[in-house]
Amino acid sequence: MPDSSLDGSVALVTGASRGIGAVVAARLAKAGAKVGVNYLSSRDAAAEVVDSIKRRGGEAMLLEGNVSEETAAAAVVKQVVDEWGHVNILVNNAGINRDRLLMRMTSDDWDQVLDVDLKGAFLCTRHVIPHLIRQHSGRIINISSVVGISGNPGQANYAAAKAGLIGFTKAVAREVASRNVTVNALAPGYIATGMVEQLSEDTRQRILDRIPMGKFGTPEDVAEAVLFLCSQGAGYITGQVLTIDGGMIA
Ligand SMILES: NC(=O)c1ccc[n+]([C@@H]2O[C@H](COP(=O)([O-])OP(=O)(O)OC[C@H]3O[C@@H](n4cnc5c(N)ncnc54)[C@H](O)[C@@H]3O)[C@@H](O)[C@H]2O)c1
Repeated sequence: MPDSSLDGSVALVTGASRGIGAVVAARLAKAGAKVGVNYLSSRDAAAEVVDSIKRRGGEAMLLEGNVSEETAAAAVVKQVVDEWGHVNILVNNAGINRDRLLMRMTSDDWDQVLDVDLKGAFLCTRHVIPHLIRQHSGRIINISSVVGISGNPGQANYAAAKAGLIGFTKAVAREVASRNVTVNALAPGYIATGMVEQLSEDTRQRILDRIPMGKFGTPEDVAEAVLFLCSQGAGYITGQVLTIDGGMIA
């Protein structure tokens, strides 16, 4: 049976040229949403995400832009609304990490991660939210991390950004709840994207030993959770953090 649960919806997924964002974009499109595929510099990869959605009969648009810059974030949202008339789903997925023990962490390492992972979500949300409020409906999903809940050595900047994203989620959820707009966060554990695939066999095994389910998650696991939070059935869920980590921090 074709999945048409998001027919008529318009979604913007940031950082969707690869990894989790690319799979989320494809999943939302498969459910019938028109999808804005934002990317920073990897145009060919992002174009392939758009083409692959179109080959499967979906609608998608390529949106270049650095989410941590206000003018770019505003322009990305504007392009979506100009083209498709409205926007009702925002997935703040763009993220980077600059891992280093705190003693060696530079202000640049700190600023870059906070700028993309936290300020980027703020800016995109800030520019999408007037549309959602006006429509009296909408979904915002922020891709945080279990690291924002548990912490992790070598990731003070990333953990601070991802924990900040959880506070941001809860505050904005309260601001817009009366307008029928939900705001939730997902906290993935170790998801098998490029980053995890590059780890040494030793490190991979050490990580797997800490995961009760004994396996890495997949981008599809995250995409299905995004789809659920976008569904009608999740309409009374807001301000929540859903971990997707095989039981790691349960
Ligand atoms: N992979 C994991 O195990 C894992 C676990 C927990 C959370 N996450 C989070 O999930 C999200 C996606 O992770 P991933 O593993 O797919 O990462 P990835 O590095 O494969 O993809 C990140 C995407 O963000 C884009 N991006 C980076 N900076 C940007 C900017 N300034 N503006 C616009 N786009 C930008 C990149 O181009 C890329 O498309 C990130 O927020 C990450 O922190 C990932």
